[in-house]
Amino acid sequence: MSETQDLMEKIVSLCKRRGFVFQGSEIYGGLSGIYDYGPLGVELRNNIKQYFWQKFITERDDVYGMSAAILMPRKVWDASGHTGEAGLNDPLVECKICHERVRADQPEAIAEHEKKHEGKKVEWTEPVKFNLLVETKLGSSEKSQIDVNLRGEITQGVHVNFKNVLDSMHPELPFGIGQIGKAFRNEITPRDFLFRQREFEQMELQYYIKPEEEEGKKWFEYWKRFAWDWYFGLGFKKENLRFRQHAEDERAHYAKDAWDIEYNTPFAGWKEAWGIHHRADWDLRRHSEYSGVDLSYYDEEKKDRLIPWDIECSGGVDRAVLFVMLEAYTEDELGGETRTYLKFSPKLAPVKIAVFPLLKNKPELVEKAQSIYKELKKEFGAVEFDDNGNIGKRYRRQDEIGTPWCVTVDFETIEKDAGVTLRDRDTGEQKRMSVQEVKDFVKSQLSN
Ligand code: GAP
Repeated sequence: MSETQDLMEKIVSLCKRRGFVFQGSEIYGGLSGIYDYGPLGVELRNNIKQYFWQKFITERDDVYGMSAAILMPRKVWDASGHTGEAGLNDPLVECKICHERVRADQPEAIAEHEKKHEGKKVEWTEPVKFNLLVETKLGSSEKSQIDVNLRGEITQGVHVNFKNVLDSMHPELPFGIGQIGKAFRNEITPRDFLFRQREFEQMELQYYIKPEEEEGKKWFEYWKRFAWDWYFGLGFKKENLRFRQHAEDERAHYAKDAWDIEYNTPFAGWKEAWGIHHRADWDLRRHSEYSGVDLSYYDEEKKDRLIPWDIECSGGVDRAVLFVMLEAYTEDELGGETRTYLKFSPKLAPVKIAVFPLLKNKPELVEKAQSIYKELKKEFGAVEFDDNGNIGKRYRRQDEIGTPWCVTVDFETIEKDAGVTLRDRDTGEQKRMSVQEVKDFVKSQLSN
């Protein structure tokens, strides 16, 4: 097994063992490309989403948040171009031996499949375009049923509400609408754990501007930098992130220009983490045409109507979870023992502090530790109490789930009123301090 495969397997195994991510419907054999988040995974994912919401929406006065529905009529996707020739299609080939279907443009998927038939010559059918939109019907009788799709990108929920936001909030250009939510794609070859799934979550900003303001790609460059700073803030090393511009024949049908922020994955090298797309007036113009509703904006200064351009920032939540896990996974030696730990940035860690009594069988230690635990939990929420097993084991358990700090209550705490020890996950160093000092220190670290 190669080292990189090994790392991915270690992450998948840790995710299951410690309650981060499980295979979807596992007890029924699982569903390919579908995953469920466990108690710690959902906290990590929420922390990433919260960080997005804070930086892209709450802290800004030119961006609104919204939350659109997942089900949308087929017409939306005809308008957005996703059902058309250039839309959400991938090239599909079928193995003539076992009839399994694979994406023709993924050499690793082809090679993996050919390995299954080692010794036989695999012949493939000619590639055909396969539409990835997930279809269903709504309505109780055949007559009343209508074709709907589970959204293939969350974007369209924002564009179809452009007029509603204009009419209710009366914003002036430039302004943005941000959203987080599930998207669905019937991926031909879901693979690499959370990387390519069939149900996944996106976090996006659609930023509407006047076309004349885009001289020198002012806003496009602004949002490229903004998205980069945000992604870097998840705790990546600079050398593991890069920008890559899409070649003309690689761009989505709606994009005039597109750049990806890529992460240097151990399983397949540089892979897309985030996209910044110049969608110009594509979506609003098409929805105006297909719905018959005027989605233009009245420019008070010029006394004229215009269709705004859209600069989009679009990131995958699950990909961010996977990349953050890959980046954080560390093995080292501490106190002569090998240990595994997740070096999460404190703001992302599912548990911020764990509180221990030094010994479980000393009621005075347990009582004091319980009271400190309650005090810290009130302040920080994500705090755990643990009195199980020896202290070394408890530290390692917390290291493995990425808890940045452990607080231990010992005899000095009680007998000398000497405060507690605060242990740092990364260095293993312990410092003695008062509970108030712990609170101040953790608060300052979390605001970084
Ligand atoms: N609205 C633009 C859009 O959807 P995209 O590049 O197709 O653009 C944006 O997707 C982001 O969504 C990607 O950068 C990736 O992080 C995430 N994403 C796309 N397909 C995914 C999949 N099958 N599984 C997990 N994440 C996916």
